[in-house]
Amino acid sequence: MVKVAVLGAAGGIGQPLSLLLKLNPQVSELSLFDVVNVPGVGADLSHINSDSTTKSYLPVDKEDKTALANALSGSDIVIIPAGVPRKPGMTRDDLFNINASIVKGLAEGIAANCPKAFVLIISNPVNSTVPIVAETLKQKGVYDPAKVFGVTTLDIVRANTFIAQLYPGETKPTDFNVRVIGGHSGETIVPLYSLGETKSYYGKLSAEQQAELIKRVQFGGDEVVQAKNGAGSATLSMAYAGYRLAESILKAVSGAEDIVECTFLNLVDEIKGAKEAKALVNGLDFFSLPVKLSKNGIAEVQYDILNQISESEKKLLGVCIDQLQKNIEKGVTFASK
Ligand code: NAD
Ligand code: LMR
Repeated sequence: MVKVAVLGAAGGIGQPLSLLLKLNPQVSELSLFDVVNVPGVGADLSHINSDSTTKSYLPVDKEDKTALANALSGSDIVIIPAGVPRKPGMTRDDLFNINASIVKGLAEGIAANCPKAFVLIISNPVNSTVPIVAETLKQKGVYDPAKVFGVTTLDIVRANTFIAQLYPGETKPTDFNVRVIGGHSGETIVPLYSLGETKSYYGKLSAEQQAELIKRVQFGGDEVVQAKNGAGSATLSMAYAGYRLAESILKAVSGAEDIVECTFLNLVDEIKGAKEAKALVNGLDFFSLPVKLSKNGIAEVQYDILNQISESEKKLLGVCIDQLQKNIEKGVTFASK
C-alpha cells in the first residue's frame, strides 16, 4: 500500500505527472492537491481502470488547512510541482519570491501530517527550495535528510538526449545515463560527459562542440521557455523526469537494490559518503550527486565521481560552487526568518 501525494497536481507538470503515477501498479492511492481546478483533474484520472484510488483536495479558502492535511495524511511519497513557472527573460531565481512561501507552507503541512514521507521537490528555484524544505522540517523536529530529494532528473534526461542527437543512427538517448551534478540552474548544472558510456563519443567532439553541448544542457530549460513564448516552461519532459525519480524510489522502497539516481541532497554526515562529498565541493551543504537508494531513502552518496572528472569539468565545478553557495544561503535565510 503506497500513498503518493502530488502538490500542485492541476498544473502543467502536476497533471501529466499524476497520470504517470496513476499507471504505476505500486501506487495504491493517488492524492491530488492544488489551490485551483483539482477536482476536475481528479475526476478525470479516476476513470482510468488502474488499481489505485484517486482523491482530490481543494481548499475552500486561503485559511483552509484541512484540505492539505487530508491530502497529506498517511502519504508515503510527496511530490511538489507547486508554484509559478518562468516566462522568457526570467531566471529561476526570479521565481523565488513567490515559490519560496508556497514551498515553505507545503513543507509545514508535510511536517504536521506525514513527517516520515519521501519528499521530492520540483518547484523552482530548486537550489533554494530544497534548503527551504530541509530547514522547515528541521524546525519542526521531523527532518530526515535521506528522504528529501531535489529533482534534477530533467538535466540527466536532456544530457542523454542531446549527446545522442549528435550521433544519429549510431546512438540512441536510451544508451546513456549521464551523471549531471551540482544544482539545477544555468552554470550550476554540470554534466559529466567525460565519464561512463558517453566518454568516447564526447571525446570525439571538438572543443567547440563540447562547449556547445555543455551549454545546451545547462540552458536547456531556456529552449522550452522560449518556444512556449510566455505559456510556461517544461512540463511534459519534467513530468517524465519527475516520474523517473519517483519510480526509482518506489522500486527501492519495495526492496530493489543498486538503484542509483542523481539528486540534489543535503550533505550531512549521517548519510554515507556525504561527508567526503562535502569536502570535495568546498563545504557546500547541498549538492546534486548520484546516490544509491534503499527502502529508507538515500543510502549512500557516490562521491568518488568527483575524483574522476576531467580538468575542464573541474573548471565548470568551480563556477557551479560559487553560484550554488549563494542560492543555498538564500533558501536557508528565508526559512530561518
Ligand atoms: P503551473 O503554473 O502550470 O502549475 C503550478 C501549479 O501549482 C498550479 O496548478 C497552481 O495552482 C499550483 N499551486 C500554486 N500554489 C499552490 C499551493 N500553495 N499549493 C498547491 N498548489 C499550488 O507550473 P508548472 O509548469 O507545473 O511548474 C511548476 C514549478 O515547477 C515551477 O516552479 C517550475 O519552475 C518548476 N519546474 C521545475 C523543473 C525541475 O527540473 N525541477 C522543471 C520544470 C519546471
Ligand atoms: C527546466 O529546467 O526546464 C525547469 O527548471 C524550468 C525552467 O524554468 O527552465
